[in-house]
This record gives sequence, C-alpha cells and structure tokens, in this order.
Amino acid sequence: MKKTVLVSGGAGFIGSHVTVELIQAGYDVVMADNFSNCDRSGYEGVKQITGREDLPLEEVDFCNAAQVHALFAKYPIDAVIHFAAYKAVGESVEKPVMYYKNNLMSFLNVLEAAQEKGGCNVLFSSSATVYGEPDAVPVTEKTPRKPATSPYGNTKQMCEDILRDTVKASGGTVKGILLRYFNPIGAHPSALIGELPRGVPNNLVPYITQTAVGKRPCLNIFGNDYPTPDGTCLRDFIDIVDLAKAHVCAVGRMLEGKMKADCEVFNIGTGRPLSVLELVNAFEKVNGVKLNYKFVPRRAGDVVSIWADPTLANTEMGWKATRSIEETLKSAWEWELHLKNQQQ
Ligand code: UFG
Repeated sequence: MKKTVLVSGGAGFIGSHVTVELIQAGYDVVMADNFSNCDRSGYEGVKQITGREDLPLEEVDFCNAAQVHALFAKYPIDAVIHFAAYKAVGESVEKPVMYYKNNLMSFLNVLEAAQEKGGCNVLFSSSATVYGEPDAVPVTEKTPRKPATSPYGNTKQMCEDILRDTVKASGGTVKGILLRYFNPIGAHPSALIGELPRGVPNNLVPYITQTAVGKRPCLNIFGNDYPTPDGTCLRDFIDIVDLAKAHVCAVGRMLEGKMKADCEVFNIGTGRPLSVLELVNAFEKVNGVKLNYKFVPRRAGDVVSIWADPTLANTEMGWKATRSIEETLKSAWEWELHLKNQQQ
C-alpha cells in the first residue's frame, strides 16, 4: 500500500521540491502550509511538474494545536517532514519571542499529534547552523554543536533536542531523523518552482539572481579579508533537488525499518567547499552574464568556513549530491528568468 507523508511548510522553497521528489518516488503526499512566507505558486508548480492535480493541500497553522490534531486525524500519516518554521537569522535576533513561539510551538504540536496517534516517523529539517563556527572542517555528525549565535539557530538546536527526547521517551513508537542542511540553492530544472524571497533576500543566491536580472543594483559581498584562499567565506552549496532527494532516502529508511538507531542525524551537503567569490564567478561564467558586485565589510555573525563531510549520508542512506555547481547555478538563473517572464 502507498505510504502517506505529511509535509509541513510544503509550499515553501525546500518543501515544494521535497514534495515533487516524494510524489515521483511513489508516495502520497499531504502538503500543509499557512502561507505566511510563501504564496500558492509552489503548490501550483508541484502539481504541474508531477501531474497530480489532486494533490491534497491543507491550509494549517502549525501553532494551532487543534488544527494539527485535526490534520493527523484526517489522513493516515506514516511520516511527517517538518519544515514549517521561520528562517531568517537577522530577523530572529530582532524578534526572538516570535521565533521561539513559532518554531517551537509548531514542532511541539506535530509531536503531540504524532504521539496521540500512537507514534510516527518524524523528519526534522535542521541546519548546519547548529555547528556554529566549527573548530575543524569538514564537519561530521560527531562534530560538537556550538552555542547558537542567533535565536533562529537556537530553535534548530532546541527542536533537535526535543525530537531526541521524544523519541527516547516513546518506547520506539516515535522515530526521528535530523537532516542538517548546508546551503541549499538552485531551483527545479523545470523552472516551475524555486526560491521566492519576500522583500530583500538575505541569502546569497537569490541576491545574485535578482542583481543579474536588474531588480537590485549591486550585490554586496560581505567581507574579503577572511582567512580563506580568496578572502571570502567558504560554504557548502547544495543543489535543492539533490537536497530534496535526501528526504526521499530518509523517509524510505524510516518506513522500511532500516534505521540503526531510533533517532539518527545526517549532514546533507556536497563535501565541496566553494567561496562566495568562486560562486559569483561561476554564476557569471555559466550563465554568460556580468554581475555588478562590490566588497563591503563583514556581516555580523557569519561563520568563516563550513562544509560537510557527507560520508554518513552517502554510505548509510545511499544518498549523494550529484548535480554540478554549473547545473545548479543555471537552474537558479532560469528560475529568476521565469519569474521575470511571469511579470511581463
Ligand atoms: N553573502 C554575501 N552577500 C549577500 C548574502 C550573503 O556576501 O548578499 C555571503 C554571506 O556573508 C555568507 C555567504 O554569502 O558568507 C552565504 O550566505 P547566506 O546568507 O546565503 O547563507 P548562510 O551561510 O549565512 O546561512 C545559511 C542559511 C541559514 C543557516 C546557515 C547556517 O541561510 O538558514 O546557512 O547553516 F542558518
């Protein structure tokens, strides 16, 4: 029988790509979102890519316990992937209460509903931010977590701990996987779904594409005096479709009883460090566009260098990043051009 996966925050950037991959892998998906940080285009795009006109969409506020319980009562949910959370580092510093309330409450409601149903497989979308500024790179899952540098990062650490404790107390009825993402970028090759930042983008790649298309006058590169080969920060940029496929592997691992512990953690990255400047140069080259950029002082809170050792995900989950940075940056640009064409 087909298994059902609930995707909270399913209409967002990562959620929509994950939904596509799950459907294509043969799962029934319930997409749930409150559309606080995205519009319905993600849902429409997923339907178009997969041909699943009947894809269930539930408008749910995950901070509302009654709504979450009703959702779990309505569908035979075998696994839940929890994305529904706020994600802007800077905003979290300005509005900590809003971040703690939203990110913790929504996850607690999911866990409570899952427990009340007698158990569930829970995949939590965590972040490399839990490693802080690591003492050594690349980071493995055994690399110690550092104190979070923002309320956003703190919510990721706290949700990781909440899931671990819940799994431990559940006597095996709740199982958990924590996926720690590095820097997800790019868009679906169809250019029908992608990243849709509201207002001025915080993240590098949407800022690059918006500058290239003329929405922004100039990209500011934050710092060129870091102790790295070219002076700019090093990151592990992971293609969004590769990242989405990691979720299919993780869900399969849970549902097929392949887990080696009741709560597992995997780094989801390429293992390939790239500097901000290298990324900018690669974007210009592969897309044949000239980018207006300048170096400005460092951004507060930025980690100098971080990239993944993805060996565990490669060997244990059978997942590996396969798309080249060129393909990824091409997809990011095609998505921006798609948005431009839509507006004309
Ligand atoms: N950068 C610029 N100019 C910009 C935007 C970013 O130079 O306009 C630089 C940053 O200084 C950084 C790099 O590009 O060196 C990547 O920045 P992003 O904001 O794209 O990504 P971060 O690595 O800061 O953050 C990402 C996620 C966070 C997560 C963090 C750590 O966006 O959610 O990784 O895992 F917490």
